[in-house]
Amino acid sequence: MNDSKIFSIVFLLFLFTIFASSSSNNIHKCHKKQSEALLLFKHDFSDSYAMMSWNTSTDCCIWKGVTCDRSTGDVIGIDLSFGLLSGVIHPNTSLFNLPHLQTLNLAFNNFTGSQIPSEIGRFSNSLTHLDLSSCGLSGQVPPDITLLHKLVSLDLSSNYDDLKLEPHVFINMLRNFTNLEELSLVGVNISSVLPTSLNISSSLKLLNLQSTGLQGKLPHYIFNLQSLETLDLILNQFTGDIPSKISVNLTHLTSLRLSYNKLNGTLPSWLFTSPSLEYLFLDDNMFSGNVPFELFALPLLKLLDLSDNQLGGQIDVQTFRQLTNLTYLDLSSNNFSGELELDTLLSSLKNLEYLDLSYNGFSVTTNNANHYVNAGFLFLKLASFKLKVFPESFRAMKQLQYLDLSGNEIHGQIPHWAGEIGRNELYLLNLSNNFITVLPQFQWYGRLEELYLRSNLIEGPFPPSICNMSSLRYLDISHNSIEGVIPQCVGNLSNSLTIMDLGNNSFQGTIPNVFEGFIQLEGLILNRNRLEGGVPSSMSKCEYLRVLDLGNNHLNGTLPGWLGELRFLQVLVLKSNNFHGNIQPSFAVKSPFPGLQVLDLSHNGFVGELPTKYFQNFDSMKNVVKNNTKPQYLDMVGIYYSFVVVVKGVYRDIPSLFVSLIISDLSNNYFERGIPEIIGNLSALRVLNLSHNCLNGRIPYSLRISEIESLDLSSNQLTGNIPQSLAGIKGLEVLNLSQNHLVGHIPEGTQFKTFDESSFAGNLGLCGFPLPKECSERTHKPQLEEHENHEEKSGFTWEVVTLGYGCGTLLGLVMGYLLLSTRKVKWFNLIADAGEHMILERNKRRYVFIGK
Ligand SMILES: *[C@@H]1O[C@H](CO)[C@@H](O)[C@H](O)[C@H]1NC(C)=O
Ligand SMILES: *[C@@H]1O[C@H](CO)[C@@H](O)[C@H](O)[C@H]1NC(C)=O
Ligand SMILES: *[C@@H]1O[C@H](CO)[C@@H](O)[C@H](O)[C@H]1NC(C)=O
Ligand SMILES: *[C@@H]1O[C@H](CO)[C@@H](O)[C@H](O)[C@H]1NC(C)=O
Ligand SMILES: *[C@@H]1O[C@H](CO)[C@@H](O)[C@H](O)[C@H]1NC(C)=O
Ligand SMILES: *[C@@H]1O[C@H](CO)[C@@H](O)[C@H](O)[C@H]1NC(C)=O
Ligand SMILES: *[C@@H]1O[C@H](CO)[C@@H](O)[C@H](O)[C@H]1NC(C)=O
Ligand SMILES: *[C@@H]1O[C@H](CO)[C@@H](O)[C@H](O)[C@H]1NC(C)=O
Ligand SMILES: *[C@@H]1O[C@H](CO)[C@@H](O)[C@H](O)[C@H]1NC(C)=O
Ligand SMILES: *[C@@H]1O[C@H](CO)[C@@H](O)[C@H](O)[C@H]1NC(C)=O
Ligand SMILES: *[C@@H]1O[C@H](CO)[C@@H](O)[C@H](O)[C@H]1NC(C)=O
Ligand SMILES: *[C@@H]1O[C@H](CO)[C@@H](O)[C@H](O)[C@H]1NC(C)=O
Repeated sequence: MNDSKIFSIVFLLFLFTIFASSSSNNIHKCHKKQSEALLLFKHDFSDSYAMMSWNTSTDCCIWKGVTCDRSTGDVIGIDLSFGLLSGVIHPNTSLFNLPHLQTLNLAFNNFTGSQIPSEIGRFSNSLTHLDLSSCGLSGQVPPDITLLHKLVSLDLSSNYDDLKLEPHVFINMLRNFTNLEELSLVGVNISSVLPTSLNISSSLKLLNLQSTGLQGKLPHYIFNLQSLETLDLILNQFTGDIPSKISVNLTHLTSLRLSYNKLNGTLPSWLFTSPSLEYLFLDDNMFSGNVPFELFALPLLKLLDLSDNQLGGQIDVQTFRQLTNLTYLDLSSNNFSGELELDTLLSSLKNLEYLDLSYNGFSVTTNNANHYVNAGFLFLKLASFKLKVFPESFRAMKQLQYLDLSGNEIHGQIPHWAGEIGRNELYLLNLSNNFITVLPQFQWYGRLEELYLRSNLIEGPFPPSICNMSSLRYLDISHNSIEGVIPQCVGNLSNSLTIMDLGNNSFQGTIPNVFEGFIQLEGLILNRNRLEGGVPSSMSKCEYLRVLDLGNNHLNGTLPGWLGELRFLQVLVLKSNNFHGNIQPSFAVKSPFPGLQVLDLSHNGFVGELPTKYFQNFDSMKNVVKNNTKPQYLDMVGIYYSFVVVVKGVYRDIPSLFVSLIISDLSNNYFERGIPEIIGNLSALRVLNLSHNCLNGRIPYSLRISEIESLDLSSNQLTGNIPQSLAGIKGLEVLNLSQNHLVGHIPEGTQFKTFDESSFAGNLGLCGFPLPKECSERTHKPQLEEHENHEEKSGFTWEVVTLGYGCGTLLGLVMGYLLLSTRKVKWFNLIADAGEHMILERNKRRYVFIGK
């Protein structure tokens, strides 16, 4: 090559470069119509920061979030995700004037009140990626979405559950999107069964149908997708099983999540030899049979959750040796067995952060040898694990956040170092239901939020170190033998404490008057102690109180009027104390106890008339009950207040309170005069006990409350006939009218036939079945509608009955009552896993995922 040739080549290259750069400038220019369309869209969301750079002085292809085709200049991509856009998407939004749009991502914005426009089908020739997740959309997904046959990726997840997808549209989507690789419909309401056969795109890699209301048999074709990487069907109602044989090798499967369905059958072996599996969630189903742990060949497995099934199989410390990458293991609530030496087990799980082996059939030993223990443990739950000692190896767990050793056999004194496990990271400690006698000095003051020491043998005074736990929300030290006074320093917990249960101990003295600042307090349970004095006035400041149980103490004084002003109070139990006086609300309180469901004032010295005004409010609860189609539990962030009522002399444990369960027990006091008619109209009332008072007059004819289950009016001075309407109450299971002055014919009715003599005994003027005394010809049968005093004519007036029952006889069944039960706490944990958006919402389970 000579120099001139080289020169001309260089020159040509130079010219070419100039030409290329100028022509590419031309090509890059955004089309006017398209930039106008974008600006119109911007106009709909005027203050959006995300579109700040969108203005006419620059080319639209350099606007933030806009992508153009390099050769044509057409807008092909819009990404405004996390753009803080707030407003309504117009049904004919100007975006539809971008005919070449391939990618549209509007995820994580606020389009509340908008629907997916049915015009969306206009993108049918271009759109390949559509992400409208987490942006507040509602209504039906338009059928025209199935026209987008080029879609490779579609995400409509997490639109507050308000998005509905017609089953046939969903099926057509699966049929028509032949290039589909990713489909995410978390929380979209499909509520349907899948067809028994369906031709799904074999390129599908991700299928996320979490919480979509899908039901019926899980179709096996879902497992025959060669390219499948992630399958998530969590929180549906699928039945059926996982196929034991599949026609493809799922060599790309990394994540299989089938939790919270109704799947059964055994677990097939291919699951445990799936070479790329990293996440396996099969919890909360009904799988059974033995898990073939010996087959386990899952080198990449990080998370394994088989909890809440009926699985069995032998496990020993060798089982997890191969699973060195495991960080999360939950086998709780199954029937696994095997002998485990705890320290060896913990030391063999080198990367584990989360371990739950609770509620199985393991037999556990602890040799407390100083093995290496992974210091990275964050979560450890070994409830009902037959542990006999507090394991030494926990000492190494400096980062532990959650420790639940409830329901074990740990005896005696807890070692002193246990008071500083997890240093200052620990937020939950549960040692309930053991045989612990002495606690260590607790050293965590900052983070501990939940402390459960219920049902142990703890003696001595209230542990003073508890007063220093400035974040404590739940404190349950009930059912121990703690004595002395409740110290003033519990007042230090005012900013955080939500529930305090000190019940069933031996506390004495007065309740400290330190409740002014307890703005979060929802539950205060001090029952079954030896407390005396009055209800402290500072409690009137606990305006969010829902449960107040001071029963079975030696408290005295009158019923404080301010109790009626606690507008969220649902349960008030003052039973078995020495309270006295009239309980009529003052006129100043217009509507006392607006939310009350359980009122137990029994076994006190209250006098005067029954408080009609309270009952009126019970009545107002009735609509709340009727309007709620789903039962609502009285729960306090996962902790249910439950109690025991006596029905037919049998203690009945009511695990959680239904809103509809309205209970009133005013028995064993000195209430007098009549039973107010209004009681008959309380359709939500389930249990009414007015026994052992001095009530007189007649049983209200209005008492035909359709849903009352237990009615006890015994040991009063009631007169007149038993109203026929009582016999019409279908749900009535318990009736006690004994020891009154009732007269006449016992009404006949199917339900009444189930009551025996004891329900009516001690009323000398009563006759007919089931009493041995037959009625004479002259005895009136009770009428359905009675308005006159028949008993006068019948000759059986109450005066004839001379037996003087003393009123307020402090007799009767003592109800075992009130325990604060901890529901199995599911630990919601954000697991940031690659490529999937997940929202952490502690209370909104449906969107969560989750490790538990
Ligand atoms: C247009 O956007 C550019 C780039 O963000 C900015 O520098 C310029 O100030 C904007 N012009 C107007 C008129 O807003
Ligand atoms: C939607 O807007 C385009 C122009 O922006 C117009 O041509 C079309 O008729 C509109 N369609 C409807 C249904 O309003
Ligand atoms: C979303 O927008 C609606 C109505 O525009 C508004 O009421 C709501 O507070 C917004 N939500 C959030 C989280 O910004
Ligand atoms: C599937 O897409 C094609 C366009 O390729 C369209 O003509 C057809 O109507 C779509 N089918 C359904 C069921 O929407
Ligand atoms: C889903 O939609 C059906 C029918 O529209 C409705 O009955 C059901 O309650 C919805 N489910 C949820 C969880 O919203
Ligand atoms: C399923 O789809 C493939 C390719 O998309 C096609 O070849 C096959 O015939 C279809 N099968 C059925 C049963 O529709
Ligand atoms: C699956 O893998 C096994 C063993 O690697 C092989 O024998 C079998 O042919 C493969 N099956 C399919 C359908 O590729
Ligand atoms: C699984 O459940 C179905 C009912 O949904 C039942 O018919 C079947 O017998 C169960 N199978 C096993 C193995 O329990
Ligand atoms: C653990 O996972 C990593 C990749 O995340 C892999 O390289 C490594 O081989 C795995 N460990 C074992 C023992 O297989
Ligand atoms: C649990 O496993 C044991 C054997 O370890 C077995 O005897 C028992 O029947 C199993 N229980 C259930 C409910 O499967
Ligand atoms: C309440 O009890 C305390 C101590 O038990 C006693 O000093 C006080 O007089 C009592 N008050 C009333 C009103 O009975
Ligand atoms: C329940 O429904 C009744 C009648 O439909 C209505 O009057 C009442 O206000 C409703 N109560 C609540 C709490 O929504």
